[in-house]
Amino acid sequence: MKRQVRKAVFPVAGLGTRFLPATKASPKEMLPIVDKPLIQYGVEEAVAAGVETLVFIIGRTKNAIADHFDKAYELEAELEVRGKTDLLEVVRNIVPNGVECVYVRQAEALGLGHAVLCARPVVGDEPFAVILADDLIEEDAREGGALSQMTRHFNKYQCSILGVERVPKSESEKYGIVHPLPFATRLSNVEDIVEKPKPENAPSDLAVVGRYILTPRIFDLLTNIERGAGNEIQLTDGIAALLHEEQVLAYEFSGRRHDCGSKLGYLVATVEYGLRHPELGERFRNYLQTGGFLSAVKADPP
Ligand code: UTP
Repeated sequence: MKRQVRKAVFPVAGLGTRFLPATKASPKEMLPIVDKPLIQYGVEEAVAAGVETLVFIIGRTKNAIADHFDKAYELEAELEVRGKTDLLEVVRNIVPNGVECVYVRQAEALGLGHAVLCARPVVGDEPFAVILADDLIEEDAREGGALSQMTRHFNKYQCSILGVERVPKSESEKYGIVHPLPFATRLSNVEDIVEKPKPENAPSDLAVVGRYILTPRIFDLLTNIERGAGNEIQLTDGIAALLHEEQVLAYEFSGRRHDCGSKLGYLVATVEYGLRHPELGERFRNYLQTGGFLSAVKADPP
């Protein structure tokens, strides 16, 4: 029987040090791009791909995510009294009907691999997706969201699939880099995967970014993984073990990615989503085109 991806894991228990102090009391995945938190973009991508259960791996700042996806009775009542029906709809539809949210606590930030392992009791013996919501991926007009593209390939090939993107070799030290063997259009068999290699040791320019479909075998392998780089349990090490046992594919998705875990990527995404925003886009474009900001740009850097 063909298996389907019905569950998506959202690890949001990282320390988010690059965005301190904004991430002191709430995870970086709650940072908004214009008016929607990063995590909600990720959830919308997962739901569009047919995911029915959202598994959030939460950490120190545990309430922010649960509060965002929970029903907000008082807020809804207040919006109703004020006749703000549009906003009421926005707030009510944050999680569509039929989609379930489950929260699992990662007591200590022991790494992404450990965060994924924390999802095991909820995911069980099924294939599942992992979405790192700080990698914001624009939906492709023809092919849909990155996870929808990946689930279509999963339905055909029934194996683990890593979302990959070409990066300049000079940036290889920021990513897991795959050694690919051509398989089909924009799909490669992963022969090997190396975490954060120096440019001269990188096996290719294909970097793993924040989208994965994994078979449940990964849980057994993560259980036996020693702590790796940064004294953390690395998901990459689990995947490296998986590909000795099973086929693992790398898929070059369509859709521009914004690395919102970095401040520059976050700012760029904010500008681009601002320009496309249905209410603000035109005025924001005017502001940028008429040069209102130029005096600030031209000013000497501090
Ligand atoms: P990052 O490598 O981006 O780390 O984690 P971070 O701690 O969140 O951020 P910086 O680098 O300190 O600024 C990748 C993803 O894995 C999650 C994070 O929330 C992020 O989505 N993660 C990481 C966990 O859930 N638990 C962990 O122990 C580590």
